[in-house]
Amino acid sequence: MNIIIMGLPGAGKGTQAAKIIKKYSIPHISTGDMFRLAIKNETDLGRQAKAFMDQGELVPDEVTVGIVKERLSQSDAKGGFLLDGFPRTVEQAEALNNIMSELGTQIDQTIYVEVPEEELMNRLTGRRICETCGATYHLVFNPPKTEGICDLDGGKLYQREDDNPETVQNRLEVNIKQTAPLLDFYKGLGVLATVDGSKDIEEVFEEVDEILNGL
Ligand code: AP5
Ligand code: ZN
Repeated sequence: MNIIIMGLPGAGKGTQAAKIIKKYSIPHISTGDMFRLAIKNETDLGRQAKAFMDQGELVPDEVTVGIVKERLSQSDAKGGFLLDGFPRTVEQAEALNNIMSELGTQIDQTIYVEVPEEELMNRLTGRRICETCGATYHLVFNPPKTEGICDLDGGKLYQREDDNPETVQNRLEVNIKQTAPLLDFYKGLGVLATVDGSKDIEEVFEEVDEILNGL
């Protein structure tokens, strides 16, 4: 199954993605994670992406579409994939449709995780991530058993650089503008489902799972 998980920054895409890939054994393709890895490894891609990410702006399509095309062409994506954080604009969605046609396949389902805008700032500024395994926590909504330490492997928790209030504000503004046309695009293709992302993490996953089970 070829699936896209969509939602504003902090809606819970990454949190739900971790559960989906565990249950359905498909690769998690997150453009945000790919950029962060490139920045960490100090590659050309990382240098290109960093300035945009630090400002909470979108990385230009020429860069983003190229890395997604390359990743989707790899053999482990042939049996299905979960795209997270891409596409974010109608232009990217059109480019993705072209990539799908070239690969002889299509998008089976998009899931939009809907959360009221006023909740997103709290979610993002309270987020903490394990430096060892990447697991995501929240200081209030999903705290680790021991403060600052990952439950799974004892790794140290850190805060993402773009999770400060100023950058979050810009990320929200930039993404809100793109969302309605993007949802219309997938509605038009008949593959859009929306889940209520304001419920707790397990309840959201139940809704997501019901949609995927029916595919
Ligand atoms: P990216 O990494 O994709 O960031 P984002 O879209 O801003 O989304 P997040 O990862 O911040 O949030 P999420 O929805 O995954 O939430 P999470 O599950 O962690 O992109 C980063 C940057 O890269 C962009 O700004 C841009 O510069 C660039 N980029 C990436 N893709 C691009 C593209 N296609 N085009 C151009 N540029 C691109 O949850 C958030 C918090 O809430 C956590 O603490 C979690 O524990 C908590 N939480 C989750 N679910 C719940 C719940 N149900 N109830 C309570 N708390 C919850
Ligand atoms: Zn961990």
